[in-house]
Amino acid sequence: MRRQRLDLEALEAVLLDMDGTLVDSDASVERAWTAWAGEYGADIARVLAVAHGSPAAHTVRRLLPALDASEVAEAARRQHALQYDDLADVAAAPGAHDLLAELDRLGLPWAVVTSADRRLAEARLHAAGIDPPLLLTVDDVRAGKPDPEGYLRAAARLGADPASCLVVEDSEPGLAAGRAAGMRCAALRGLDGDLRLLDLGQLAHLLRHARLRPWWRDAVGYQVYLPSFRDSTGDGWGDLAGVSAHLDHLARLAVDVVWLTPFFRSPMRDHGYDIADYRAVDPSFGGEAALDELLDQAHRRGMRVIGDLVVNHTSDAHPWFAAASSSRSEPRRDYYIWRDPAPDGGPPNNWLSHFGGPAWTFSPATGQYYLHLFRPEQPDLNWRNPALAAEIDAVIEHWLVRGLDGFRIDTAAYLVKDAGLRDNPPLPPGRLAPTLGTTLDWRRQDHRYDIHQPDVHAIHEQWRRVADRHGAFLLGEVYELDPVALARFVTGERLHSSFWFGLVETGWNPDRIDAMITAAVAASPRLSWVQGNHDRSRAATRYGGGMLGRRRSLALHVLMALLPGTAWLYQGEELGLGDGQVPPGQGADPLATAQPDQSRDVVRTPMPWRPGPGLGFTTGRPWLPGGGRLRSDTVAGQTGDPASHLNVLRRLLMVRRRLAGLLAVTDEVTRQEIGAPVTAYRRGDLWALANLRDTPSAEVELPAPAVFDSDDPAVTADRPKSGRIRLAPQQALLLAAR
Ligand code: GLC
Repeated sequence: MRRQRLDLEALEAVLLDMDGTLVDSDASVERAWTAWAGEYGADIARVLAVAHGSPAAHTVRRLLPALDASEVAEAARRQHALQYDDLADVAAAPGAHDLLAELDRLGLPWAVVTSADRRLAEARLHAAGIDPPLLLTVDDVRAGKPDPEGYLRAAARLGADPASCLVVEDSEPGLAAGRAAGMRCAALRGLDGDLRLLDLGQLAHLLRHARLRPWWRDAVGYQVYLPSFRDSTGDGWGDLAGVSAHLDHLARLAVDVVWLTPFFRSPMRDHGYDIADYRAVDPSFGGEAALDELLDQAHRRGMRVIGDLVVNHTSDAHPWFAAASSSRSEPRRDYYIWRDPAPDGGPPNNWLSHFGGPAWTFSPATGQYYLHLFRPEQPDLNWRNPALAAEIDAVIEHWLVRGLDGFRIDTAAYLVKDAGLRDNPPLPPGRLAPTLGTTLDWRRQDHRYDIHQPDVHAIHEQWRRVADRHGAFLLGEVYELDPVALARFVTGERLHSSFWFGLVETGWNPDRIDAMITAAVAASPRLSWVQGNHDRSRAATRYGGGMLGRRRSLALHVLMALLPGTAWLYQGEELGLGDGQVPPGQGADPLATAQPDQSRDVVRTPMPWRPGPGLGFTTGRPWLPGGGRLRSDTVAGQTGDPASHLNVLRRLLMVRRRLAGLLAVTDEVTRQEIGAPVTAYRRGDLWALANLRDTPSAEVELPAPAVFDSDDPAVTADRPKSGRIRLAPQQALLLAAR
């Protein structure tokens, strides 16, 4: 049975444990129990194993069962006495003040419910600078945790229904008390709860988002290319359990939403973008149970998960196509696009497949051609058929009920084709369509009739009605590089957002990038910012390769952190990975056969978790070669180094999370001149500054205190930096005026 998702919007009160949850008192508690164990001759290892989260009297009773009631009370008093004056290193836990300020701002009642006695609790909370509106201690109840009385009394005093209270705990007895009170539980320290929190700042962020605006506004997204993320079975092919196993990697990156590339049943001729059953999880990815587990685990970390809706085409192995191609009179015939041969017996028009050759394949059984804008094994669906449209509505509904939080929509601007299937005109000689990821022949046509037909908006509007019933997010894959034209896909009741691929289709040119971003920001506040994906060369490679490419990509991430919309990472981008090496003959991408320089294999090599054979991706033989990764490319190799790409990005995204409340104040972003060739954007009280050039900037006065500096880990929201600075090449900062 899957747990019901926690509805943060409906919470009536938040009830927090003290020691280890709100207050970091570990050292003091340990010292006191160590001294006590010495006095009472108890085994300290056992003491520490049972003491946490329980009232002292419980611990004493468990450890020294021979004592009578008054001796137990005395031993517990002694234990507390040892702690009363030991407040030297007691402090608020990470994120505690952020959370409490957020609760006050949101008007959400809160209380502290602790197993400490009142004198100790007041002293510790005071030392941590926390003044709770309601404090319930072990002195106020008959029995302490795991008995639910403290939590129930707190709810009653706050006038909240227990079922709408959230308990926050870092110990098993505390969680047991919360559950026994019928409350939802958020757990710290890797314990299991309705929510699994890294720290209290994360809860602050989730509440802020749930209450302020739709969850996807200003969210940080992460694309998992499923076949290459992590293999849990040793067959060399990534799977859903592999993603579940690494959700904490994503949580530490402050990721709000994960996009899974297609996990549906598929013959994998385009690695999942050829679907044979829209309602089944492919066994090679772990089947239905693995998806349920992943959704549950992600939701418990406060993360959303979106799927990949691939409905421009199906696989030729889909039963709809089997039926359609069996006879011209079969009712499903019209789910696909069939035409008689041209008078010379050739294809009906001049349209081309993205992967090479004509977009039409002759089907001898019925004597007609069918259309496929991709492989012949990916026949295009007929979106002018209302019966097909209704089938897809039901598919969307099915997955949103099942627990997905939305979809990335594959080739979202394709779907409908020109009703007359007119020939595409050629582009003037020497001109090419701007999008990569296809053949040169394809780029020589003006794609006036096969893709991007205006009727597609009506389909999006219909999906939006379905999605909005579930609070789900629809994110388009639209390769329309002109942001003004792209904005038409995300106005009104169309898609919630669309990727803007300007930064994906470009190499490095600071002035051009600057101008492109300014134009995109002006076009819409609902775009999704992205530097790379599974179809295009990786950002660090396109931006110059090596350290330079990494630093340039990072500088853009700092700007992206300020811009309205959603900001995305493609798996491995957090490591600053460049394209992997794939020796000839070892690739698998259908596009590479027709257009080797556009091979997508190089961006799909396995995620390097740690050095060594298999890279921590698999214990077997990976489906694509390892890519030639170095130790310093891996998650393990970068984790311990505070200056690694991974850690700088983590710092950036954690700071951004803290600033979410300020980001929510306005979507209006303006380009600013600050007196040096530094790219500067302002959004309300927040600024992003980046030196996109390869030379140091002139000295500039920071227009607000810096809370993040790509080159200086000492700069934080708690220790901001002000004054004049010279920005090193690619150095980038976030500033907050308050
Ligand atoms: C999208 C996908 C790509 C796939 C194509 C056909 O562009 O991102 O990987 O090959 O659609 O489904």
